[in-house]
Amino acid sequence: MVKKICCIGAGYVGGPAMAVMALKCPSIEVAVVDVSRPRIDAWNSDRLPVHEPGLDAVVRACRGRNLSFSSDVDRHVADADIVFVSVNTPTKSRGLGAGLAADLAYWESAARMVAAASRSATTTGKSKIIVEKSSVPVRTAEAMERILLAHGGGEGDDAAFHVVSNPEFFSEGTAMRDLLCPDRVLIGGRDRDAVRALVDVYAHWVPEDKIVTTTSLCSAELSKLAANAFLAQRVTSANAISALCEAVGADVSDVSRAVGMDHRVGGGVGGAFLNAGVGFGGPGFHRDVLRLAYACDCNGLPEAAEYWRQVVAMNEYQKSRFVRRVVSSMFGTVAGKKVAVLGFAFKKGVADTRDSPAIDVCRGLVGDRAHVSVYDPAVSEKQILRDTAAKVCVARDAYEAAEGAHGLCVLTEWDEFRTLDYQRIFDGMQRPAFVFDGRNVVDVGKLREIGFVVYSVGKPL
Ligand code: UGA
Repeated sequence: MVKKICCIGAGYVGGPAMAVMALKCPSIEVAVVDVSRPRIDAWNSDRLPVHEPGLDAVVRACRGRNLSFSSDVDRHVADADIVFVSVNTPTKSRGLGAGLAADLAYWESAARMVAAASRSATTTGKSKIIVEKSSVPVRTAEAMERILLAHGGGEGDDAAFHVVSNPEFFSEGTAMRDLLCPDRVLIGGRDRDAVRALVDVYAHWVPEDKIVTTTSLCSAELSKLAANAFLAQRVTSANAISALCEAVGADVSDVSRAVGMDHRVGGGVGGAFLNAGVGFGGPGFHRDVLRLAYACDCNGLPEAAEYWRQVVAMNEYQKSRFVRRVVSSMFGTVAGKKVAVLGFAFKKGVADTRDSPAIDVCRGLVGDRAHVSVYDPAVSEKQILRDTAAKVCVARDAYEAAEGAHGLCVLTEWDEFRTLDYQRIFDGMQRPAFVFDGRNVVDVGKLREIGFVVYSVGKPL
């Protein structure tokens, strides 16, 4: 029976995932540990370091009951029956595989720490389950096993450790909902008892038919990369079609809806992850598509690698195509002209700008010497200035951003951009007043009636 769970890494994945586990498994003590003291202090305060709707309430309900946050890593690792490893795996910035492969330095040190802290467990003969939770390249779990083994972890049935892969699929902004009602939970591992123990934990709140198990660690690891790559490829397919729609006068929203209504594509509901736009962003897609391509390359599969790399190349094309459209529409130059940018986050509902298409679009416009004024309802001024090397201005609202502008670009699909007073915006802008909708949120007909020249991705001009 699992009594104690510990999670190394109090970050974006570990924190929310363990909070939900504590909520749903009141008989299990869950400890989230991290070497960063300030991070742990924040988890123990009223201002959590991760913002997700519903997270505060769950942490408040469980903290002090069966959920704790601590920097005493060794003690909690030593005590736990199951140790989740959810540490950062940034992409390597130098050396072999720079820009493509994952930097596993944190992983390796976590593995060594688990081995050292668990010495006592090896003497009591009780084996520990080590769960790989971070997004990692294929075969990382095997490397973890090797490190544990090298520290005297034993082998086969006598092993002191059993490594299991349990990748996380939640999306930012909907983490709690996704964790409480996941589409599936994936658990891969060779040791049947270890896999069963983890299944039993999840079965506290996830129906068993949604818990998928595999006997192969790397199938589970690969599924995580493939899931993100498939989603990214789907958005990219819609974006590729959007370019053709503009050329022939078709409407990409109609095409996506019609394609998605086929139950084999969109489950019959239409549109899901088929919305064309200025390009995908966020921490997961770009990273995992490139990691997949790198894995193909490393395994002598250059054609398969090239296929996936093309998804990233198309995404870059979509962003630069958007910038080109802005510049060419505004008579071939934006030099000295004010351009408003509405939305800087990589999607609505989050304050995250990692890999946001808005960064590249701003860079492109600034490169053409436009005066860019950015407004986003959630992203801080500091963050926008950091991402753009302080080459843009930050406005307090959409109206201030658009005041005196020649053009306005919508780059995040925030709901408030649908209901702005566009007549007021038009009155404050230069003539002709251009709107470039990178997320298909504005009412094109209405804006044209007001007098705007409107360009929407994948829509007839
Ligand atoms: C993504 C996956 O959806 C999660 O399952 C995964 O766990 C996570 O990555 C991860 O591994 O980090 P997330 O990055 O939060 O989640 O965001 P998504 O909602 O997937 O959106 C990604 C990007 O695609 C956004 O820029 C969004 O605007 C864009 N997108 C999405 C479109 O342009 N069109 C669509 O139809 C859907």
